[in-house]
Amino acid sequence: MQTLEAIAKRKSTRDFDPNKAVPDEIVDTIIKAGCQAPIGAGKRDSLHLTVCRSKEILDEINESTAAAMKMEKRDFFYGAPVVIFVSASEKQMAPGIEYANAACVIENMLIAATDVGVDNIYLWGGVQAAAKNADLCAKMGIPEGFKPVSAAAIGYSQSSSAPARELSVSLSANYI
Ligand SMILES: Cc1cc2nc3c(=O)[nH]c(=O)nc-3n(C[C@H](O)[C@H](O)[C@H](O)COP(=O)(O)O)c2cc1C
Repeated sequence: MQTLEAIAKRKSTRDFDPNKAVPDEIVDTIIKAGCQAPIGAGKRDSLHLTVCRSKEILDEINESTAAAMKMEKRDFFYGAPVVIFVSASEKQMAPGIEYANAACVIENMLIAATDVGVDNIYLWGGVQAAAKNADLCAKMGIPEGFKPVSAAAIGYSQSSSAPARELSVSLSANYI
């Protein structure tokens, strides 16, 4: 697939088949694409990736999130068999740059996933509550001094994929 075709085809999936695994070599390709992202301030060691296939951990995050948000427990990961968490060091060169860096890594992974026929979604909900739960972060193997800032869920949708959209200037833009 050409890059622009993958960009046009990428869309969020919220109905993953929890029983359809993503092969290791495909996960590996997606991770490598994430690692190729630009990282602000050249601080590649300020990020850490956690590839989570543990339903138990995801369930704990769901519980923690529901409690933090004072809402009923639901699956914030939409049944995805693999969730890749991007964590960032709490020591950053510039305020907020960790979110920009994580976004670059995640978008690269989403485009790569689309390219290899794996459905995906960028996730924020669920991640923030996990970040505040030190025990959970330790259980996830996130290095000390790091906290999860965003995640990419990948897998296979239970419904058929929508056709690629036409690329268009769909955000407000001005040209000067
Ligand atoms: C920073 C960020 C955080 C997001 N967090 C969530 C989330 O927690 N849950 C969710 O269902 N979708 C989440 N999304 C997906 C957006 O809702 C989705 O990208 C948007 O509705 C556009 O749809 P599309 O991805 O199909 O083009 C997030 C997207 C971004 C960029």
